[in-house]
Amino acid sequence: MKFGTKVIHAGIEPDPSTGAIMTPIFQTSTYVQQSPGEHQGYEYARTQNPTRSALEKNLAALENGVDAICYASGLAAMDAVLKLLNPGDEVISTNDLYGGSYRLMTKVFAKYGLTFKFVDLSEATDLKTHLNDQTKLVWIETPTNPMLNIVDIQAICNQVNEATMVCVDNTFASPYLQNPLDLGADMVLHSATKYLGGHSDVIHGAIITRDQETADQLRFLQNAVGAVPGPQDCFLILRGIKTLHLRVQRSCENAAKIARFLKDHPAVSKVYFPGFKDHPNHEIAKKQMKDFGGMVSFDLHQNTFDAAKQVLSNTHFFSLAESLGGVESLIGHPASMTHASIPKEERLKVGLTDSLIRLSIGIEDVEDLIDDLNKALATLD
Ligand SMILES: Cc1ncc(COP(=O)(O)O)c(C=O)c1O
Repeated sequence: MKFGTKVIHAGIEPDPSTGAIMTPIFQTSTYVQQSPGEHQGYEYARTQNPTRSALEKNLAALENGVDAICYASGLAAMDAVLKLLNPGDEVISTNDLYGGSYRLMTKVFAKYGLTFKFVDLSEATDLKTHLNDQTKLVWIETPTNPMLNIVDIQAICNQVNEATMVCVDNTFASPYLQNPLDLGADMVLHSATKYLGGHSDVIHGAIITRDQETADQLRFLQNAVGAVPGPQDCFLILRGIKTLHLRVQRSCENAAKIARFLKDHPAVSKVYFPGFKDHPNHEIAKKQMKDFGGMVSFDLHQNTFDAAKQVLSNTHFFSLAESLGGVESLIGHPASMTHASIPKEERLKVGLTDSLIRLSIGIEDVEDLIDDLNKALATLD
């Protein structure tokens, strides 16, 4: 199956009891057994749920993986990956990653004996100098959030040995644009809250694995720990995925036009967008992504929080909100919103200034979006 067919058909069967074409929401906590141990594959809904199973099969197909496990949120999925490790193990991670991921690593798992090293993984040649016998996981986010750096997934995977797993947070790209398992990664993580769901109406997460053994360990952990998504949330993600390719393609097209508009705007000092030929990782993005994504970040010549606030408070179609990947365009201020949990000196090292603005480009008509930004930027004196 090609991608546009997979999103609609992979893992999805009409409901055998009624023929319903849409996977039903199996709102049940348990399943009746004929005699002890004699059941239809489902015992208790923390362990298995048919709506969740359909979504997991679909996600495994979209990422060319062997299996997928769904969670109550993207961070619950990340929590499960980190629980595969043991005290004393080390994780090497991108140095500009989602603030919540940074917080989970440094404020939660650091307490349990894991160590974390944050490095610029967009300089892939450097990785070898950071690896040691304790390194058990390399955590990649690409494109990074919010600086939109690109990490060469294949180059990283080629440098690690069998004992070190590579997990790629593929939230920003979505499986439509990038399939990390094909490039050598062991696991892919999604905050399905974003492009997979696509309609800003659900919190959800998933991990897709390239081997069954890792999936089995994750399933064991999930059943033991209990971070499961509800069946209605799984249904919403399944429904969102059906238009993933159309939505992401349109977002990419809009984003390229908006990035160009911002680059030419006199109030804008810098635009971060991997689609530009002068983006430092443009060639890698071209190699590993189908298109350059729907996210654009930019900075202002007036590099103060007040100036950013002025723009952030004067858009109409761009709603000021956390999150990304929905059909509607969002505008955000990483320093005070998504990345507030990262210390200021760490933020500034990667260019995440107080005046940096992040856009999640939706699927509206691009002329209206450009007009909206133009009017908001015109309010700066
Ligand atoms: C790149 C990335 N990864 C993970 C997460 C966490 O996902 P969730 O909010 O679904 O827990 C987010 C949330 O914004 C994100 O942007």
